[in-house]
This record gives sequence, structure tokens and C-alpha cells, in this order.
Amino acid sequence: MDQRGRKTTADSRFTLSALMGPQDANQHGNVHGGVIMRMVDEAGALVAMRHANRPVVTVAVDSMTFEEPILLGNLVLCNAELTYVGKTSMEVRVEVVTEDPMHGTAKTTNIAYLVYVALDPAGRPAVVPEIEFKSDDERARADAARARQEFRKQQRALEQR
Ligand SMILES: CC(C)(COP(=O)(O)OP(=O)(O)OC[C@H]1O[C@@H](n2cnc3c(N)ncnc32)[C@H](O)[C@@H]1OP(=O)(O)O)[C@@H](O)C(=O)NCCC(=O)NCCS
Repeated sequence: MDQRGRKTTADSRFTLSALMGPQDANQHGNVHGGVIMRMVDEAGALVAMRHANRPVVTVAVDSMTFEEPILLGNLVLCNAELTYVGKTSMEVRVEVVTEDPMHGTAKTTNIAYLVYVALDPAGRPAVVPEIEFKSDDERARADAARARQEFRKQQRALEQR
């Protein structure tokens, strides 16, 4: 945290990992999509909690696509990082990397964007620390994230009509 109370992505960045076993299988013997969705949400929530140092709830999950099956025996890594910080809301980018430890290969199988809101003890939205995006890559991702959040706000306003 700097003197102005701002944090960086490094302060909250987090990787959640798990080895896929029989308990994670669907009826076809591949990993159940819900297992990955749960890991993605947990990784994202932990990043938001680390930034806010408060409890958070998920308010939006952008569409997730599954281009390739994830197999039993694969190691799944959810690399999660903040891409946007509003007043009380935060967007987290979660990249899902699937590793085959027997062959030493790894590939990115999904990328998801989720929005969390920090809560005060009464369960109302709470103001979160500001963030400073340090690298050009981070700033480019932040520009895209701002546009996504603006779009979500417009969608929300339309749905509430
Ligand atoms: C989180 C909650 C308390 C917020 O209450 P609210 O009346 O919507 O509050 P606001 O309208 O002030 O929105 C708070 C922030 O969330 C953002 N937000 C709310 N809904 C959103 C959505 N669908 N997409 C993106 N951002 C959203 C707002 O833009 C605002 O951001 P900002 O403060 O950074 O500008 C309420 O929506 C809630 O309880 N939702 C259920 C959460 C939940 O149970 N999740 C699943 C289980 S964890």
C-alpha cells in the first residue's frame, strides 16, 4: 500500500490450484464444468477480499466457455488478478490453466471476468481502497475492464426498467 492508501495488483494476486480426481468427474469421465466454475469464483473472491480486506459477494460472472475438456489427473490452476476497482465493486480476471503433469504440458483453457462487491458489517456495499495499475499490460487490461463494467451498468439499468 502506498502513502495515499492505494494498492497494486501484486497485493492481492492469487493462484488457486487443485488436482482433478474421481470426485470431480462428470458421467463422461471428464471434469465437471461446475467444479471449474466454483474454483474460478473462489479464486476471484479471494483476490477481491485481499484487496478490500472485507467480506465480498459475487454480483456478476461474464460468460464462460469451455473449448476443451479437462481430464482427470490434470492439475488446474486459477490465476486471478484485479482488473478494475470502482467505489465498492471490483472486477477480477481469472485465467484457468490446465497442466498435464505426466507430460509436462500446460494450456490456458478458460478466461473469466467476475465482479465482486465488498460489504460492511451491516451487509451494505463498502468503499474499497484505490488501485494503481503499474505496467502497460495492466493499464490496457484496466481500460478493457472499465468498458465491460460500463456495459454491465447499462445492462443492469435496462433490466431494472
Ligand atoms: C452486493 C449488493 C449488497 C449490492 O447492493 P446494490 O443495491 O446492488 O448496491 P449498488 O447498486 O450501490 O451497487 C454496488 C456496486 O456494485 C456494482 N454492481 C451491482 N450489480 C452489478 C452487476 N450486475 N454488474 C456489475 N456491477 C454491479 C455497482 O455498479 C456498484 O459499483 P461501485 O460502487 O463500484 O460504483 C446486492 O446486490 C446483493 O446482495 N447481491 C447478492 C450478492 C450475492 O448474494 N451473490 C451470490 C453469492 S456470494
